[in-house]
Amino acid sequence: MEMLSVALPKGRLGEKVYAMFERAGYECPAIREPNRRLVFENPDKGVRYFWVKPSDVAIYVERGAADVGVAGKDILLEYAPEVYELLDLKTGVCRMAVAAKEGFTDDVRRTLRVATKFSNIAAAHYAARGRDIDIIHLNGSIELAPILGLSDVIVDIVETGATLRENNLQVVETIVPISARLIANRANFKFKSERIEALTAALRRQTEEPV
Ligand code: PRP
Repeated sequence: MEMLSVALPKGRLGEKVYAMFERAGYECPAIREPNRRLVFENPDKGVRYFWVKPSDVAIYVERGAADVGVAGKDILLEYAPEVYELLDLKTGVCRMAVAAKEGFTDDVRRTLRVATKFSNIAAAHYAARGRDIDIIHLNGSIELAPILGLSDVIVDIVETGATLRENNLQVVETIVPISARLIANRANFKFKSERIEALTAALRRQTEEPV
């Protein structure tokens, strides 16, 4: 049986997602051993996992280095990779939001300075309402930008809201809800469709059963 290769996002979300794959019958015990390996396989189950930087999962899948993978809807919206989105895994739930310092009001006579890692999402959001913006692309710790006066607002992921609260920022508006999605390479899906569909169905059952 040819291996089904799965790109998992390294980190907390990836561990939760792997537990779903495990419960769905695609376990690979070596992955739980404490080590720094990046590739794990279980030939009995015909599955091979890779730990990938979360924002890179879609690239591995789009180019066929992995048959399937798990990526946040934020990454799919931002980079629009040419992959199939097969399933909402209903985990890694958060939202993409605009946030600003407490008391912020938008002065529409001025260009709005928006700091973000998600330039395309931010641009589309403001273009849809005809608001002129200046995007300041950052790679992390976005919350610093309005505090230091680098930007007026940020467009970023809000999960618990703790980061905003502890930095005296607040949500101005929610742009879109986000969660982890199972994605597949389009060409590989055609010749492994049966196995990928079986995996999708088994994972769907996981999303329907309370843990
Ligand atoms: C994300 C996001 C926020 C934070 C939101 O950052 O950019 O900073 O999580 O979570 P909360 O609402 O539960 O506080 P991440 O940890 O991915 O690091 P980053 O600064 O590199 O974006």
